[in-house]
Amino acid sequence: MKILSFEGKNIYIFGGSSGIGLAAGLQLAGLGANLFIHARNKAGLQAAATQIKQQRRVNTQRVAWMSVDIADHLEVNKAINTSVETYGPPDILINCAGRAYPDHFEFITHEQFEETMKINLFGIWNTIAAALPHMKKKGGVIVNTSSVVGYIGVFGYTDYAASKFGILGLSEALRSEFKRYNIGVSILCPPDTRTPGFEVENQTKPEETKAISESGGILESEQVARQLIKGIARGKKMIIPGFDAKLSYYLKRWCPGLVEFVMDRTILKTQNRMK
Ligand SMILES: NC(=O)c1ccc[n+]([C@@H]2O[C@H](COP(=O)([O-])OP(=O)(O)OC[C@H]3O[C@@H](n4cnc5c(N)ncnc54)[C@H](OP(=O)(O)O)[C@@H]3O)[C@@H](O)[C@H]2O)c1
Repeated sequence: MKILSFEGKNIYIFGGSSGIGLAAGLQLAGLGANLFIHARNKAGLQAAATQIKQQRRVNTQRVAWMSVDIADHLEVNKAINTSVETYGPPDILINCAGRAYPDHFEFITHEQFEETMKINLFGIWNTIAAALPHMKKKGGVIVNTSSVVGYIGVFGYTDYAASKFGILGLSEALRSEFKRYNIGVSILCPPDTRTPGFEVENQTKPEETKAISESGGILESEQVARQLIKGIARGKKMIIPGFDAKLSYYLKRWCPGLVEFVMDRTILKTQNRMK
């Protein structure tokens, strides 16, 4: 489903107060959309909404925020129903909330695994389940944010990869089901991107993960947001920002052994250096 113009569109962004979600909100405001951002921290939401308002083309564009924990399906239901009653249903739903605490598998607790799945995967299920009754009346677009780690299992990202691979399967099945409602489902797979979330992620990254990560370079959140918006406009199913990430997607599909070989070599070199 292609989007010819974002003007006047109602865009709900979960995770819209920071990083990639905020960058997308700022750019979409400049394209004339109404933005409704959701996250947990109220101060962060308020500050983000103020920034987004400043980017509006015209001051009749609506910008609002609501605090919600996407891991809690009852809270999400309530938040979406309230937003729909007040502002109308989403034309575009962007799921950008998520987080990563990379570490060696042995150090990842069951609690962390559970939380990762609840935020990164269940969270997306929750927003879609709550938005669907409203969106299916007139169609629209849903974008689910996965990661490069949603198609390559990278050292140090066991719980995160499980959640992000899950998003690919969920989105593909939804795409098939939602065609009858004229709802397109896209997947955003960013590579490493400079955001507040990425800074947190770097605090627990094992050395091997850092070495793999450094070989891929880093994008700015504005670049990822630009690719995201372009991808939505063109109705792309897989939105993979950056040349390196696109290359890794095709290499993983057509030469998975090569990807594993290169990663193993980087890991071994790092481990030898640490001895
Ligand atoms: N940055 C990267 O290198 C990178 C690479 C690949 C994929 N990604 C993915 O891209 C997405 C955005 O990442 P980012 O780097 O932009 O992160 P970020 O700067 O930390 O922003 C994350 C956003 O999600 C919200 N959020 C987190 N947990 C939430 C919860 N339980 N309920 C509601 N909102 C929640 C945060 O606000 P509150 O904390 O206030 O709730 C914030 O608005 C994530 O899904 C991430 O996994 C990022």
